[in-house]
Amino acid sequence: MEVSRRMPKDFFWGNSVSSMQTEGAWNIDGKGQSVYDVRPATEHTADWHDAIDEYHRYDEDLDLMQAMHMNMYRIQISWSRVVPDGDGEFNPAGIAFYDRLVDGMLKRGITPMICLYHFDMPLALAQKENGFMSRHTVDAFVRFGKKMIEHFADRVKYWITFNEHNLYFTSEVFNISGYEHGDRSLNDLYTIFHHTMLAHAQLDAFVHSHYDDVQFGGMIAYTPVYPATSKPNDVFAARQLDQFLNNNLNDAFVHGHYAHEVLTFINNHDIDYDHQVGDDQILAAMHADFLAFSYYRTTTINADKVPAGTAPNHYLDYGMESNRFLKANQWGWTIDPLGFRNMITDLYNRYDVPVFPIENGIGLEEHWDGEHMIEDDLRIQYHRDHIAAMKDAMFLDGAKVLGYLGWGLIDIPSSHADIEKRYGVVYVNRSNHDLKDLKRVPKKSYYWLQSVLAKNGDEL
Ligand code: BG6
Repeated sequence: MEVSRRMPKDFFWGNSVSSMQTEGAWNIDGKGQSVYDVRPATEHTADWHDAIDEYHRYDEDLDLMQAMHMNMYRIQISWSRVVPDGDGEFNPAGIAFYDRLVDGMLKRGITPMICLYHFDMPLALAQKENGFMSRHTVDAFVRFGKKMIEHFADRVKYWITFNEHNLYFTSEVFNISGYEHGDRSLNDLYTIFHHTMLAHAQLDAFVHSHYDDVQFGGMIAYTPVYPATSKPNDVFAARQLDQFLNNNLNDAFVHGHYAHEVLTFINNHDIDYDHQVGDDQILAAMHADFLAFSYYRTTTINADKVPAGTAPNHYLDYGMESNRFLKANQWGWTIDPLGFRNMITDLYNRYDVPVFPIENGIGLEEHWDGEHMIEDDLRIQYHRDHIAAMKDAMFLDGAKVLGYLGWGLIDIPSSHADIEKRYGVVYVNRSNHDLKDLKRVPKKSYYWLQSVLAKNGDEL
C-alpha cells in the first residue's frame, strides 16, 4: 500500500535561539548582569556582550525568517533583562523589548514559543544564593515566570521553562547554572535538579489552571546512548544512562514523579536533595502538553571505561567512545539521522504525548569572502536527512510530531561563545573578536530550506 507522506497543514517549521547567544545589548535599557555577561573572552572565544545584536536588528531577522516561510520562532526571555537582580523590581524596558519581538513575529505570521531559562542565571542570584541551590531562587524564578506568562499568554501559546532541563542532572550543571560554590557533590547536583523541577512544576500548574489554550511542555537535550558492543555490561550502561539522563525527566513531566530507578539510587546512596514535605504533591500535578528536545547527535558508551561505583550522572565523563559507523563534524558530533527517527519513535511510543524537536542542526566552520555565496552542502544534507528521518518516524512509525525547529539558523555564537562553530543558513558577518558589520548573508542552505518550507516539507 502507498503510504501518504503529506505533512500536516499546521506543522511548525522554524528557528530556535537563546537570548544571550542572539540579543547583545547586555547592559542597556536597564538589563542586569547574568553569569554569561561576566565571562571573559579568550583567544578562541568572544564575550557575550554583542552576540548578533538581535536586540536592534530583530526586524531584519524576522523578515529573513518570514521569507523562508518559517511559521515558528522559539526565543528566550532573559531573566536578567526583565528582572535585573533576579528577585527585585521588574524592568519595563526589558519587557517592552519582548513585546516588540513577539508583535513582530505575529505581524509576520510567525508563532512565538517562549523559553524562560537558558543557563543564564542573574549574577546577583548566583552570588547571593548560589543559583538553584536555594529555594529562594526557585521562588524568584516562579515569580518571574508567572509574570511573563500573565503578560504574554494572550499572544504566546507555546511555553517551555528550562532549556535542556536534563543537563542540570549531569556534571555539566556545575559549569553552566550559576552554581558558584559548594563541593560539587551528588547532593548538590540532585538538589539543583530537584529545585528546577519544582520550579517547572509550579509554572506547569499555573498555566494549566489559568489558560486553556496555552501549551506547556518540558524540554531536554536528547542524546541517545548506544552501547559500544553487545556485551551486556555495555547494553546495561547505555540503558541506565538513557534512563538517568533522558527519560527520568520525561517520566517526571508526564507521570509527575522521578523514575523508580533514580529514586532507588537516591535512597540507596543517602542523597540529600532537599526533598521536603509537599514536594511530591507539587510534582504529581505535572502534565506535559508536548515533550520538546534538542537533538544533534548520538553518543556511545563503553562500560569498561567507567570506574566501578561511578554515579550514572557522571558516566559520560569517562565512558564515551567514537562510533566507527558514523561520520562526525569537526567537533566530533556524530551525524545520525536514523538515531533521530529511533528516538522520536521511542519517545512517542513510551509516553503517548506529542513530541517536538525544537533544536537540530550541524555546526560548521565557514568564512565569507565578502562576495560569493557560502555553499554549505553538508548542512543541506544534514537537514534533509534529519527531516526525512523525522518523516519516517511520523509516517512509517506513527509518531505525532508538532514541528521541526533548527538551531541558530541565523548564525549565533556557539555555547562556548565561538562564532566559528556556525549553525546558520544565514551567515552573520562577525568573528570572535571583530564585530565587522554584522551583515546577514544567506547561504546556499537558506534557499534550499526556503524551497522546502514553501511546500510544507512535502518535497526535500
Ligand atoms: C544546545 C544549547 O545544547 O546546543 C545551545 O541549548 C547550543 O545553547 C547548542 O548553542 C549547540 O551547541 P554548541 O556548543 O555547538 O553551540
